[in-house]
Amino acid sequence: MVRNAGIVIVTVIIIAILTDAMITILARPQLGRKACNAANIPYKTVIAHRGASYWAPEESYYAYMIAKEVGAEYLEMDVQRTKDDVLIAFHDDTLMRITNVSSVFPGRENDPIKSFTIAELKKLDLGKWFNNTYPDRSKKSYNETKILTLDEVIDIAKADGTIYPLYIETKSPDNYPGIEQELVAILATRGYITANTNTNHPYAPVIFQSFEIKSLMLLSQLAPGVPRVYLIDEDMVNDKGWDVIIEEAKKAGCAGLGPSGYLGWPWLIGKAHRNGLCVHIYTVDRKWQFRLLHWFGADGFFTNRCELLMDYYDKAHKKSFKDVIVSIK
Ligand code: G3P
Ligand code: CA
Repeated sequence: MVRNAGIVIVTVIIIAILTDAMITILARPQLGRKACNAANIPYKTVIAHRGASYWAPEESYYAYMIAKEVGAEYLEMDVQRTKDDVLIAFHDDTLMRITNVSSVFPGRENDPIKSFTIAELKKLDLGKWFNNTYPDRSKKSYNETKILTLDEVIDIAKADGTIYPLYIETKSPDNYPGIEQELVAILATRGYITANTNTNHPYAPVIFQSFEIKSLMLLSQLAPGVPRVYLIDEDMVNDKGWDVIIEEAKKAGCAGLGPSGYLGWPWLIGKAHRNGLCVHIYTVDRKWQFRLLHWFGADGFFTNRCELLMDYYDKAHKKSFKDVIVSIK
Protein backbone atom coordinates (compact mmCIF):
# COMPACT_ATOMS: atom_id res chain seq x y z
CA MET A 1 0.00 0.00 0.00
CA VAL A 2 2.70 2.46 1.12
CA ARG A 3 4.88 1.33 -1.78
CA ASN A 4 2.03 1.93 -4.26
CA ALA A 5 1.39 5.40 -2.86
CA GLY A 6 5.09 6.15 -3.21
CA ILE A 7 5.05 5.05 -6.85
CA VAL A 8 2.02 7.28 -7.55
CA ILE A 9 3.63 10.31 -5.89
CA VAL A 10 6.94 9.83 -7.74
CA THR A 11 5.05 9.37 -11.04
CA VAL A 12 3.04 12.57 -10.46
CA ILE A 13 6.22 14.50 -9.63
CA ILE A 14 7.98 13.21 -12.75
CA ILE A 15 4.98 14.10 -14.94
CA ALA A 16 4.82 17.59 -13.39
CA ILE A 17 8.54 18.16 -13.99
CA LEU A 18 8.29 16.92 -17.58
CA THR A 19 5.18 19.06 -18.26
CA ASP A 20 6.87 22.14 -16.83
CA ALA A 21 9.99 21.45 -18.91
CA MET A 22 7.89 20.91 -22.03
CA ILE A 23 5.96 24.15 -21.52
CA THR A 24 9.20 26.04 -20.92
CA ILE A 25 10.67 24.62 -24.12
CA LEU A 26 7.51 25.45 -26.09
CA ALA A 27 6.87 28.91 -24.66
CA ARG A 28 10.50 30.12 -24.44
CA PRO A 29 9.77 32.72 -21.71
CA GLN A 30 13.37 33.98 -21.76
CA LEU A 31 12.82 35.07 -25.39
CA GLY A 32 9.65 36.91 -24.32
CA ARG A 33 11.66 38.84 -21.76
CA LYS A 34 14.23 39.64 -24.45
CA ALA A 35 11.52 40.84 -26.86
CA CYS A 36 10.08 43.15 -24.18
CA ASN A 37 13.53 44.52 -23.36
CA ALA A 38 14.27 45.14 -27.04
CA ALA A 39 11.10 47.24 -27.35
CA ASN A 40 11.70 49.05 -24.06
CA ILE A 41 8.58 47.49 -22.54
CA PRO A 42 8.71 46.23 -18.94
CA TYR A 43 8.61 42.43 -18.80
CA LYS A 44 5.54 41.22 -16.88
CA THR A 45 3.60 44.21 -18.13
CA VAL A 46 0.62 45.47 -16.14
CA ILE A 47 -1.82 47.12 -18.55
CA ALA A 48 -4.87 48.70 -16.95
CA HIS A 49 -7.54 47.76 -19.49
CA ARG A 50 -9.82 50.81 -19.96
CA GLY A 51 -8.27 51.92 -16.65
CA ALA A 52 -9.12 50.12 -13.42
CA SER A 53 -12.41 49.31 -15.10
CA TYR A 54 -13.51 46.64 -12.65
CA TRP A 55 -13.74 49.39 -10.03
CA ALA A 56 -15.02 52.42 -11.94
CA PRO A 57 -16.75 53.29 -15.23
CA GLU A 58 -14.48 52.20 -18.08
CA GLU A 59 -12.24 54.82 -19.71
CA SER A 60 -13.43 57.42 -17.20
CA TYR A 61 -11.52 59.82 -14.98
CA TYR A 62 -11.89 57.50 -11.99
CA ALA A 63 -10.83 54.34 -13.84
CA TYR A 64 -7.61 56.03 -14.97
CA MET A 65 -7.00 57.79 -11.67
CA ILE A 66 -7.24 54.51 -9.70
CA ALA A 67 -4.93 52.65 -12.10
CA LYS A 68 -2.43 55.46 -11.99
CA GLU A 69 -2.43 55.88 -8.22
CA VAL A 70 -2.00 52.15 -7.69
CA GLY A 71 0.82 52.12 -10.25
CA ALA A 72 -0.18 50.03 -13.29
CA GLU A 73 2.50 50.38 -15.93
CA TYR A 74 0.15 51.41 -18.73
CA LEU A 75 -3.28 53.04 -18.98
CA GLU A 76 -5.12 51.35 -21.84
CA MET A 77 -7.62 53.21 -24.03
CA ASP A 78 -9.56 52.88 -27.28
CA VAL A 79 -9.41 55.92 -29.52
CA GLN A 80 -12.31 56.94 -31.76
CA ARG A 81 -13.34 60.26 -33.35
CA THR A 82 -16.41 62.48 -33.00
CA LYS A 83 -18.38 64.06 -35.83
CA ASP A 84 -16.52 67.32 -35.22
CA ASP A 85 -13.07 65.70 -35.26
CA VAL A 86 -12.26 65.26 -31.59
CA LEU A 87 -10.42 62.11 -30.50
CA ILE A 88 -12.12 60.42 -27.58
CA ALA A 89 -11.58 57.39 -25.31
CA PHE A 90 -14.42 54.97 -25.94
CA HIS A 91 -14.62 51.27 -26.67
CA ASP A 92 -17.97 50.41 -28.26
CA ASP A 93 -19.26 51.32 -31.72
CA THR A 94 -22.41 52.75 -30.16
CA LEU A 95 -23.35 54.40 -26.88
CA MET A 96 -26.09 52.00 -25.86
CA ARG A 97 -24.27 49.64 -23.48
CA ILE A 98 -22.70 52.02 -20.99
CA THR A 99 -24.35 55.41 -21.33
CA ASN A 100 -27.78 56.95 -20.83
CA VAL A 101 -28.07 57.75 -24.56
CA SER A 102 -31.61 56.37 -24.70
CA SER A 103 -32.90 59.02 -22.34
CA VAL A 104 -30.75 61.93 -23.61
CA PHE A 105 -30.98 61.19 -27.35
CA PRO A 106 -33.97 58.87 -27.84
CA GLY A 107 -33.86 57.18 -31.23
CA ARG A 108 -30.06 57.54 -31.54
CA GLU A 109 -29.17 54.58 -29.33
CA ASN A 110 -27.62 52.57 -32.14
CA ASP A 111 -26.08 55.44 -34.06
CA PRO A 112 -22.31 55.23 -34.49
CA ILE A 113 -19.99 57.24 -32.27
CA LYS A 114 -18.82 59.28 -35.25
CA SER A 115 -22.33 60.69 -35.71
CA PHE A 116 -22.14 62.55 -32.37
CA THR A 117 -20.34 65.83 -31.67
CA ILE A 118 -18.18 66.16 -28.60
CA ALA A 119 -20.73 68.57 -27.08
CA GLU A 120 -23.40 65.89 -27.48
CA LEU A 121 -21.21 63.16 -26.00
CA LYS A 122 -20.47 65.37 -23.01
CA LYS A 123 -24.20 65.40 -22.19
CA LEU A 124 -24.03 61.65 -21.51
CA ASP A 125 -23.30 59.91 -18.26
CA LEU A 126 -21.15 56.81 -17.74
CA GLY A 127 -21.76 56.48 -14.02
CA LYS A 128 -25.42 55.49 -13.86
CA TRP A 129 -24.84 52.32 -15.87
CA PHE A 130 -21.87 51.38 -13.74
CA ASN A 131 -23.60 52.07 -10.43
CA ASN A 132 -26.72 50.17 -11.48
CA THR A 133 -24.82 47.22 -12.92
CA TYR A 134 -22.34 46.89 -10.06
CA PRO A 135 -24.12 48.10 -6.90
CA ASP A 136 -21.41 46.59 -4.69
CA ARG A 137 -18.81 48.81 -6.39
CA SER A 138 -21.00 51.85 -6.97
CA LYS A 139 -19.95 55.32 -5.78
CA LYS A 140 -21.80 58.60 -5.57
CA SER A 141 -18.83 60.29 -7.25
CA TYR A 142 -19.36 58.18 -10.36
CA ASN A 143 -22.67 59.88 -11.10
CA GLU A 144 -22.30 62.28 -13.99
CA THR A 145 -18.98 60.75 -15.08
CA LYS A 146 -18.31 61.93 -18.62
CA ILE A 147 -16.74 60.45 -21.74
CA LEU A 148 -13.16 61.73 -21.99
CA THR A 149 -11.30 63.20 -24.91
CA LEU A 150 -7.79 61.90 -25.63
CA ASP A 151 -6.45 65.23 -24.39
CA GLU A 152 -8.33 64.80 -21.12
CA VAL A 153 -6.90 61.31 -20.64
CA ILE A 154 -3.46 62.83 -21.19
CA ASP A 155 -4.30 65.56 -18.65
CA ILE A 156 -4.99 62.80 -16.10
CA ALA A 157 -1.87 60.90 -17.12
CA LYS A 158 0.29 64.01 -16.81
CA ALA A 159 -1.44 65.50 -13.76
CA ASP A 160 1.67 65.37 -11.59
CA GLY A 161 3.97 66.66 -14.31
CA THR A 162 5.33 63.28 -15.35
CA ILE A 163 4.49 61.37 -18.50
CA TYR A 164 2.37 58.45 -17.33
CA PRO A 165 2.51 55.70 -19.98
CA LEU A 166 -0.42 55.05 -22.32
CA TYR A 167 -1.30 51.97 -24.37
CA ILE A 168 -3.54 53.26 -27.14
CA GLU A 169 -5.73 51.25 -29.49
CA THR A 170 -6.94 52.62 -32.78
CA LYS A 171 -10.45 51.18 -32.55
CA SER A 172 -12.19 50.39 -35.88
CA PRO A 173 -9.72 52.66 -37.69
CA ASP A 174 -11.39 52.04 -41.06
CA ASN A 175 -14.25 54.21 -39.76
CA TYR A 176 -11.85 57.07 -39.12
CA PRO A 177 -9.55 57.79 -42.07
CA GLY A 178 -6.60 59.90 -40.93
CA ILE A 179 -7.01 59.07 -37.25
CA GLU A 180 -3.42 57.81 -37.03
CA GLN A 181 -2.07 61.21 -38.15
CA GLU A 182 -4.26 63.03 -35.63
CA LEU A 183 -3.28 60.66 -32.85
CA VAL A 184 0.43 61.04 -33.50
CA ALA A 185 0.10 64.83 -33.78
CA ILE A 186 -1.62 65.07 -30.39
CA LEU A 187 0.91 62.77 -28.73
CA ALA A 188 3.76 64.79 -30.18
CA THR A 189 2.22 68.06 -28.96
CA ARG A 190 1.74 66.58 -25.50
CA GLY A 191 5.31 65.28 -25.20
CA TYR A 192 4.60 61.56 -25.61
CA ILE A 193 6.48 61.38 -28.89
CA THR A 194 9.68 63.32 -29.25
CA ALA A 195 12.25 63.51 -32.01
CA ASN A 196 14.88 61.70 -30.00
CA THR A 197 12.29 59.48 -28.22
CA ASN A 198 13.90 60.52 -24.95
CA THR A 199 11.09 61.40 -22.57
CA ASN A 200 13.12 60.72 -19.44
CA HIS A 201 10.88 57.77 -18.85
CA PRO A 202 12.46 54.43 -17.97
CA TYR A 203 10.36 52.59 -20.55
CA ALA A 204 8.27 53.29 -23.66
CA PRO A 205 5.84 56.09 -22.68
CA VAL A 206 3.35 55.03 -25.32
CA ILE A 207 2.49 51.79 -27.12
CA PHE A 208 0.12 51.54 -30.08
CA GLN A 209 -2.21 48.56 -30.53
CA SER A 210 -4.75 47.61 -33.16
CA PHE A 211 -6.62 44.66 -34.63
CA GLU A 212 -5.95 46.30 -38.02
CA ILE A 213 -2.49 45.72 -39.41
CA LYS A 214 -2.97 48.60 -41.88
CA SER A 215 -3.36 50.99 -38.99
CA LEU A 216 -0.18 49.68 -37.37
CA MET A 217 1.68 50.02 -40.68
CA LEU A 218 0.61 53.66 -40.91
CA LEU A 219 1.65 54.28 -37.33
CA SER A 220 5.04 52.71 -38.02
CA GLN A 221 5.62 55.34 -40.71
CA LEU A 222 4.30 58.22 -38.63
CA ALA A 223 6.01 57.34 -35.34
CA PRO A 224 8.61 54.63 -35.92
CA GLY A 225 9.96 54.90 -32.38
CA VAL A 226 6.68 53.90 -30.73
CA PRO A 227 6.28 50.13 -30.12
CA ARG A 228 3.29 48.53 -31.79
CA VAL A 229 1.28 45.50 -30.72
CA TYR A 230 -0.93 43.57 -33.12
CA LEU A 231 -4.19 42.49 -31.43
CA ILE A 232 -5.48 39.07 -32.37
CA ASP A 233 -8.83 37.35 -31.89
CA GLU A 234 -9.86 33.77 -32.60
CA ASP A 235 -11.54 34.64 -35.94
CA MET A 236 -8.30 36.13 -37.24
CA VAL A 237 -6.42 32.94 -36.38
CA ASN A 238 -9.12 30.81 -38.03
CA ASP A 239 -9.02 33.00 -41.15
CA LYS A 240 -5.28 33.52 -41.60
CA GLY A 241 -3.45 31.16 -39.28
CA TRP A 242 -0.87 32.04 -36.64
CA ASP A 243 2.11 31.97 -39.02
CA VAL A 244 0.59 34.59 -41.35
CA ILE A 245 -0.26 36.76 -38.36
CA ILE A 246 3.34 36.58 -37.17
CA GLU A 247 4.59 37.49 -40.62
CA GLU A 248 2.20 40.46 -40.79
CA ALA A 249 3.35 41.63 -37.37
CA LYS A 250 7.00 41.39 -38.36
CA LYS A 251 6.39 43.22 -41.64
CA ALA A 252 4.77 46.08 -39.70
CA GLY A 253 7.76 46.09 -37.35
CA CYS A 254 5.58 45.20 -34.37
CA ALA A 255 7.09 44.67 -30.96
CA GLY A 256 4.48 42.13 -29.98
CA LEU A 257 1.17 40.38 -30.32
CA GLY A 258 -1.92 40.92 -28.18
CA PRO A 259 -3.95 37.72 -28.41
CA SER A 260 -7.14 36.96 -26.53
CA GLY A 261 -6.83 34.62 -23.54
CA TYR A 262 -8.25 31.78 -25.62
CA LEU A 263 -5.13 31.94 -27.78
CA GLY A 264 -2.68 31.80 -24.89
CA TRP A 265 -1.25 28.37 -25.66
CA PRO A 266 2.46 27.84 -25.02
CA TRP A 267 3.20 26.70 -28.58
CA LEU A 268 1.55 29.86 -30.03
CA ILE A 269 3.25 32.14 -27.53
CA GLY A 270 6.56 30.33 -28.11
CA LYS A 271 6.33 30.85 -31.86
CA ALA A 272 5.78 34.58 -31.30
CA HIS A 273 8.75 34.65 -28.92
CA ARG A 274 11.02 32.84 -31.36
CA ASN A 275 10.10 35.54 -33.89
CA GLY A 276 11.16 38.29 -31.51
CA LEU A 277 7.62 39.29 -30.48
CA CYS A 278 6.47 39.82 -26.92
CA VAL A 279 2.96 38.67 -25.97
CA HIS A 280 0.37 40.68 -24.00
CA ILE A 281 -2.84 38.77 -23.42
CA TYR A 282 -6.32 40.32 -23.04
CA THR A 283 -8.46 40.49 -20.93
CA VAL A 284 -7.55 38.58 -17.82
CA ASP A 285 -8.87 39.31 -14.34
CA ARG A 286 -8.36 36.21 -12.20
CA LYS A 287 -5.32 35.03 -10.32
CA TRP A 288 -5.54 31.46 -11.59
CA GLN A 289 -5.63 32.80 -15.15
CA PHE A 290 -2.57 35.00 -14.55
CA ARG A 291 -0.77 32.00 -13.10
CA LEU A 292 -1.71 29.61 -15.92
CA LEU A 293 -1.06 32.01 -18.80
CA HIS A 294 2.19 33.23 -17.25
CA TRP A 295 3.27 29.60 -17.03
CA PHE A 296 2.29 29.27 -20.68
CA GLY A 297 4.68 32.14 -21.48
CA ALA A 298 2.62 35.39 -21.46
CA ASP A 299 4.77 38.50 -20.95
CA GLY A 300 1.98 40.70 -19.58
CA PHE A 301 -1.77 41.19 -19.43
CA PHE A 302 -4.51 43.65 -20.22
CA THR A 303 -6.55 43.50 -17.06
CA ASN A 304 -9.50 45.30 -15.50
CA ARG A 305 -7.95 44.49 -12.11
CA CYS A 306 -4.47 45.95 -12.22
CA GLU A 307 -4.18 45.68 -8.43
CA LEU A 308 -4.56 41.89 -8.60
CA LEU A 309 -2.04 41.52 -11.41
CA MET A 310 0.46 43.69 -9.54
CA ASP A 311 0.03 41.42 -6.53
CA TYR A 312 0.49 38.34 -8.68
CA TYR A 313 3.68 39.78 -10.21
CA ASP A 314 4.80 40.87 -6.75
CA LYS A 315 5.00 44.52 -7.82
CA ALA A 316 4.49 47.01 -5.01
CA HIS A 317 1.47 49.31 -5.20
CA LYS A 318 2.46 52.96 -5.48
CA LYS A 319 -0.41 53.86 -3.12
CA SER A 320 -2.43 51.32 -1.16
CA PHE A 321 -5.21 50.10 -3.42
CA LYS A 322 -7.64 50.02 -0.51
CA ASP A 323 -6.87 53.63 0.43
CA VAL A 324 -7.36 54.75 -3.16
CA ILE A 325 -10.78 53.07 -3.39
CA VAL A 326 -11.89 54.30 0.02
CA SER A 327 -10.88 57.87 -0.86
CA ILE A 328 -13.51 57.92 -3.63
CA LYS A 329 -16.85 58.82 -2.06
O1 G3P B 1 -6.88 46.32 -26.41
C1 G3P B 1 -6.71 45.08 -25.82
C2 G3P B 1 -8.05 44.60 -25.66
O2 G3P B 1 -8.65 45.68 -25.07
C3 G3P B 1 -8.73 44.29 -26.96
O3 G3P B 1 -10.01 44.12 -26.71
O4 G3P B 1 -12.25 44.80 -27.21
O5 G3P B 1 -11.29 45.32 -25.00
O6 G3P B 1 -10.54 46.56 -26.99
P1 G3P B 1 -11.07 45.29 -26.46
CA1 CA C 1 -8.78 48.00 -26.30
